[in-house]
Amino acid sequence: MFQFNSGDMIVSPPRSDSSSPAPASSPSGFSTPATSSSVLFDNAISNLSILQGLLSDDQYVLVTGGLGYIGSHTTLELLKANYNVIVIDNLSNAFESVVDRINLLAKQHHEKEGTPMPIFKYYCQDYQDTDALRSLLDEYKLPSRWGAPKSKIIGVIHFAAHKAVEESIRNPLKYYSNNVRGLIDFVGTLDEYGIKTFIFSSSATVYGTLATSGSPLREELCVHKTEVVEHPDGSRKTVQPGSTGITNPYGRTKWMCEAILSDLALSDPEWTIVALRYFNPIGCDSSGLLGEDPRGTPTNLLPVVVKVMTGQIPELRVFGTDWDTDDGTAVRDFIHVTDLAQGHIAALNAAVHGALRENFRTFNLGTGNGHSVMEVVETMEKATKKPIPRKAVDRRAGDVGYCVAAAGRSKDELQWTTHKTLTDACNDICTFLKVSGHLG
Ligand code: WQD
Repeated sequence: MFQFNSGDMIVSPPRSDSSSPAPASSPSGFSTPATSSSVLFDNAISNLSILQGLLSDDQYVLVTGGLGYIGSHTTLELLKANYNVIVIDNLSNAFESVVDRINLLAKQHHEKEGTPMPIFKYYCQDYQDTDALRSLLDEYKLPSRWGAPKSKIIGVIHFAAHKAVEESIRNPLKYYSNNVRGLIDFVGTLDEYGIKTFIFSSSATVYGTLATSGSPLREELCVHKTEVVEHPDGSRKTVQPGSTGITNPYGRTKWMCEAILSDLALSDPEWTIVALRYFNPIGCDSSGLLGEDPRGTPTNLLPVVVKVMTGQIPELRVFGTDWDTDDGTAVRDFIHVTDLAQGHIAALNAAVHGALRENFRTFNLGTGNGHSVMEVVETMEKATKKPIPRKAVDRRAGDVGYCVAAAGRSKDELQWTTHKTLTDACNDICTFLKVSGHLG
């Protein structure tokens, strides 16, 4: 376990046998410093905490997959927003070095702001390892003699899942096991510990072929119980639960998980659950220290463009130039990952402070604006001042020509909107490539 508490680093070996982390005195581990409370309870700080969600020393947010591309950016934004954070990650699609980078960036932020660095702990374990999870949750249990179990963990943000569409088609059981069965076991264990505030990493793929409509996708296009929804023109319509034309097992796992979580919330009002439907996350933190660095071969547009920019592949294949769009290439809602991460903070704040309309609520995380593949390539060329070799090829199986978010619900109910642009994302990627030595 790594723990950062005002800069200290606590290291203990990955939890393989669900043993507790090395005791304080052992050479491989250090004490978990007694959490002093005085600094955090200064009036000015506590007022700030109420505004920004700062928790007492005894309150934490648990993030699964917190070292991955979106997870690491969200962990950083949580720490910057004064949340104490516990990350579990099995490093199947992330690198341990990200822990130090998150800690460095968060410390720099708090030094600049003059605010205390929250507690940041990392456990190298799989969220599906229930014994290891129980051992971790036992560390954060609060005494509760007769009432419901209580925990120092006030909320969970769940990123840990497989997310490669093509791989899910080749190996569906791997996706249903990890993403769906894993979720069921995970929330079942959280329930036992009284941890019932849950932010779920979902995806715009739950809209399936509804994306081909060419109109911005509204959350009510995919619901999990019969709902009466009001349209922008004031008309009201009853919508039935279900999905429409999801084209791959990965998308189906996200839809199934949403449905399971919706049913759980319906069965127990103690649960507060938010499903965040990502559109196309791109870019990286402006420092260049948290770039998208997946293990394995990427298939998403920007990581592939990066491979072309760094000479790892000769040219970008543009999948389809005959779509019904201005330039013939497909249109997507590319959202800067830092905006996306801050959308999680907004959702967590609303969930923790009881500000949601229902105890299961879905929100799109997108800009509400579309850009074509060619616009992305041209924007990146402007950022690098170098041409990006590309070739038009046939459409990719399962693709749609247009997929853009309706962003009104997030704005109205989470008071969250995006601020960064496609240009910002391309410039930040270039910073990452320079910082990591991939670009001169
Ligand atoms: C974007 C556009 C491609 C690569 C996927 C998942 C979705 C979500 C985001 C998790 C498309 C084109 C791409 C390339 C190309 N992930 N493209 N050449 O397919 O919109 O969504 O990632 O939640 O669930 O489905 O993203 O980046 O793969 O593609 O022309 O080498 O770029 O055809 O039009 P997509 P993408």
